[in-house]
Amino acid sequence: MVQPDRVHRRVYTDPEVFDLEMKRIWGRAWIFIGHESMVPEPGDFITTTLGRDPVIMVRDRRSREIRVLLNRCGHRGVKLEVRSHGNARGFRCLYHGWSYRTNGQLAGVPHAVGYDGTSFDIKKPCYQLTHIPRTDSYRGFVFASLAAEGPGLEEFLGDTKHTIDNMADRSPEGRVEVVGKVSNRFVQPANWKNFIENLNDAMHPMVAHSATGQATQTFVSTCCKEGDPRPPEAEVIQPFGGSYQFFDDMGQTALPHGHNYMGGHTSIFSHYDWPESYIADMTRAYGAARTKEILQFNRHNTTVYPSLAVRDAVQSIRVVRPVAHNETIIETWVFRLAGVPDDMLAKTLLYSRLINAPGSMVGPDDLDCYLRMQQGLGSERNDWVDFKRFSTADRVTEGGKESLGTSDLAFRNQYQAWLAYMTDAETPSAEGTDA
Ligand SMILES: [Fe+2]
Repeated sequence: MVQPDRVHRRVYTDPEVFDLEMKRIWGRAWIFIGHESMVPEPGDFITTTLGRDPVIMVRDRRSREIRVLLNRCGHRGVKLEVRSHGNARGFRCLYHGWSYRTNGQLAGVPHAVGYDGTSFDIKKPCYQLTHIPRTDSYRGFVFASLAAEGPGLEEFLGDTKHTIDNMADRSPEGRVEVVGKVSNRFVQPANWKNFIENLNDAMHPMVAHSATGQATQTFVSTCCKEGDPRPPEAEVIQPFGGSYQFFDDMGQTALPHGHNYMGGHTSIFSHYDWPESYIADMTRAYGAARTKEILQFNRHNTTVYPSLAVRDAVQSIRVVRPVAHNETIIETWVFRLAGVPDDMLAKTLLYSRLINAPGSMVGPDDLDCYLRMQQGLGSERNDWVDFKRFSTADRVTEGGKESLGTSDLAFRNQYQAWLAYMTDAETPSAEGTDA
């Protein structure tokens, strides 16, 4: 189903392939769960999913450590916590009242005499809230893996950790905090890979987003006086009307484990104007040279395959939560830079509203494309999905491969990682792109 420069349509449409993906990709890779700033106090929790498993990320009341627990009672399998977030003394099942500590330990069973003389033991692992085998965090970003063995989180993140670093380093205090909780969710009637591929698909903005992009270009060229600052809305939307050359020049990099990013020296954020007070705060914290380095780190989307996309320059992430072969939840989260004026957060929120939200000027274009792709791929008359663009132009570098921005390199790289996971190869890597 996976060839070097094309894939079979079944990778998007076959429920059996989806089942295997949940086991072999989502059951092995490090999956983004949440951010430490969402659970600052003991007992604070959020609920989400890890592949198909409902999980609770909670700050344990005793140890104050963050734990990721299976959100399932050890008795009859009832989902314990249905709130999206909150603070809990512990978790009590609403069916038969089994209660658990925030470290997952079974603390009490009502009318327990009924178990006298049986093999029931309150300490048995099967009665506890199952710990997800591995949990770790990087700069406050919490990931979990259902596999007990495999590369550590930092090794898995590889070069993508510099994108996470850059998001945090854009704060003079070197840290970010989630604003609210998840800021919006799309349920898309399409496969999760449609979304993950779209993130760095530079051949689509000038077509799929042409109405919005061109209207903004026209507005800026006719209504904004030369030399005047553009309205913030125009600054955000204008790059989505960028030319093929603009996106080609941005370039892209493919990394091991299916990760990739566009940009580096230039991106859609290169021409953002940052408030003077912010530059002053940053310069006080880091000095002029380091400040320049941080703000010129211009990556567009960085994809941490398969679950996370980071836009460090606007402190926004998107998170993939697959539901079925033809259904995916896409979340957008926004972050506040610690220690900066609120006008920076206003920019982040504006970006999210204009580009990512369900009612935004850009996101629904993409959603329509995913929906139509899923519909078209249902046909058995043509089996192949093509990724040949610039397939003879990859440049091998020390850490991966590079190409022009509009190359299909990212997709080819993702499917080599996909193939490695799905065939149980030991460590998926970018090297397979040539195979
Ligand atoms: Fe798009």
